[in-house]
Amino acid sequence: DSPAVSISPPARPLVLAHRGASAHAPESTLAAFRLAVESGADGIELDVHLSRDGELVVIHDDQVDRTTDGRGWVHEMTLAELRSLDAGRWFGPGFAGERIPTLAEVLEAVGGALRLINIELKAGPSSRPGLVQRVVETVRRLGLEERCVISSFNHFALREVKRIEPSLRTGILYVEGLVEPWIYARQVPADALHPPHYVVIPELVEGAHRAGLAVHTWTVDAPDEVRRVAACGVDAIITNDPAAVRSVLGR
Ligand code: G3P
Ligand code: CA
Repeated sequence: DSPAVSISPPARPLVLAHRGASAHAPESTLAAFRLAVESGADGIELDVHLSRDGELVVIHDDQVDRTTDGRGWVHEMTLAELRSLDAGRWFGPGFAGERIPTLAEVLEAVGGALRLINIELKAGPSSRPGLVQRVVETVRRLGLEERCVISSFNHFALREVKRIEPSLRTGILYVEGLVEPWIYARQVPADALHPPHYVVIPELVEGAHRAGLAVHTWTVDAPDEVRRVAACGVDAIITNDPAAVRSVLGR
């Protein structure tokens, strides 16, 4: 008898939905994160800010103007004020009534269905004291430590994450073609590189992997670029359209 052959999809790269499945639903809303799960995404990427009253809210911009019917700075508004805004109608009438969610709401809604949750901190300890502590507490409270990777362009924020919870994974966001960034990443300390797709080359992924670091690249929607970064061996592709990327990868 020939042994049973199980054909399962390749484990890598993971497909992460950038701000949820934001090509098809209003970014950073529960609708977009739920659609990511329905699309078969392995994970999500999201951005967190602190409200004036110290609550963690999921929104990309510093201001609410682009993605809601309100105006103003996120950090100057209370959670109640932020929750009163419509965060879906700008994308399409069918999404009217979507709200700016809290981090806990997103994690409670979809966290259990995901393999990797990339939480991007949009500020560091000096400008937003308490942000890092609250994110770590929320992840801990929901028991999602092993599924999360915390990223930021502010690498002091990542050092703070590790000081509070050494087991929580971190990833450095950067935009340039850095030479041997894995050496620097280890000093932060971080567990992953989060480069933009246009700096990903095989040597970058090989160097990162030799140093024990993962490579999560963003934001990749074009099919040829999806194929190229996958061929480079990245561990995760962050995309606005997880269903399309899965299809390009043959899943
Ligand atoms: O995860 C990387 C990517 O999300 C960073 O860019 O501006 O979309 O937060 P941005
Ligand atoms: Ca982001």
